[in-house]
Amino acid sequence: MQIRTKVDLSSFNTLQLRSQAEHFAELYSPSDLHALQNDSSLKKLNWNILGGGSNLVLPSSISGLVLKVSNQGKELVADDKDFWFVKVQAGEVWNDFVQWTLQQGYWGLENLSLIPGTAGASPIQNIGAYGVEVKDSIWEVTCLDLQSGETKKLNNKECQFAYRDSYFKNDGAGRYLVWDVTFRLPKQNILHLEYGDIRKELERQQLAADPRTIANAVIHIRQSKLPDPKVIGNAGSFFKNPIVSKEMRDAILMKHTDLVSYPYLSTNFKLAAGWLIDRAGWKGKKLGPVGMFEKQALVLVNHGGASADDVWKLANQVSGDVKNMFGVEIEPEPIRW
Ligand code: EPU
Repeated sequence: MQIRTKVDLSSFNTLQLRSQAEHFAELYSPSDLHALQNDSSLKKLNWNILGGGSNLVLPSSISGLVLKVSNQGKELVADDKDFWFVKVQAGEVWNDFVQWTLQQGYWGLENLSLIPGTAGASPIQNIGAYGVEVKDSIWEVTCLDLQSGETKKLNNKECQFAYRDSYFKNDGAGRYLVWDVTFRLPKQNILHLEYGDIRKELERQQLAADPRTIANAVIHIRQSKLPDPKVIGNAGSFFKNPIVSKEMRDAILMKHTDLVSYPYLSTNFKLAAGWLIDRAGWKGKKLGPVGMFEKQALVLVNHGGASADDVWKLANQVSGDVKNMFGVEIEPEPIRW
């Protein structure tokens, strides 16, 4: 395994921020990690784990060692009368994995088509779209302990999944590296069409709903609304949709009758952060080299040459304006290194 120094990470983060890692190595097998752990000079350094870099804001320079998880492979590991159990290595591109499951005839992940990033990153923030989250089908996550190198398996409950959140973003942060993920996909074909956009897209194309047509509809919708990170740097939704009490939601609704909100866990409501940011006047607006995307105000974009400071300056102004206008705090979704 090669350890490189002063590595430019611009192409390893979808926001395309300029960032330099002091040391950088790619992991292909657990023995690569063990080799690093046996090196006393490297062990002293600060270690950071990089997946697809699609949910990160990288500082301009990173001291210590950046590890990119690059293991590959996907396979059916078991099946019974009700489920397929499919395992994917962390370094696989998420969407390649989703499309592969569909080609094999295993469904359940179609609504999560085209989400950027790696499969290993999917449990960390419990990726989700169009009414489905990975927590609904993750069976087990295999991790490597960054201190001891030992393998640890976490079941769904131990991952402590919540909306864009998990154990790996909290107590497990800096402790474990996600190595592979096993999904349990139901053989009974359960389609998730509750998101109006998908149904509208299928009707427009006059197609019956099945896993393949849903995947294609999701790909079409995402391509029409979200910027392609290869073309314009971005990290998907930059803020989480805030969760507020019914009283708070009703109070906003009194003044703003077109507020977009969804019931959340019986007594609360999730508000559409994109709507809040749009109404606060930030849709399509720029601040220096960054801005909020013209077709989806929730997506912060890098128009070129931005640094982490530019990103946080804009994020603070946007969240400040939303707070002043609606009294609601919006929280960034990407992880800050
Ligand atoms: N809206 C506006 N103006 C905007 C953007 C949105 O008024 O500029 C309104 C829309 O009209 C819509 C509502 O806000 O009524 C919600 O927008 P949308 O359906 O586009 O979804 P979202 O809440 O912005 C969430 C996820 C996305 C996921 C989509 C589809 C979060 C933070 N974001 O976005 O996930 O793809 O739903 O399920 O939960 C991501 O996390 O990176 C991500 C892209």
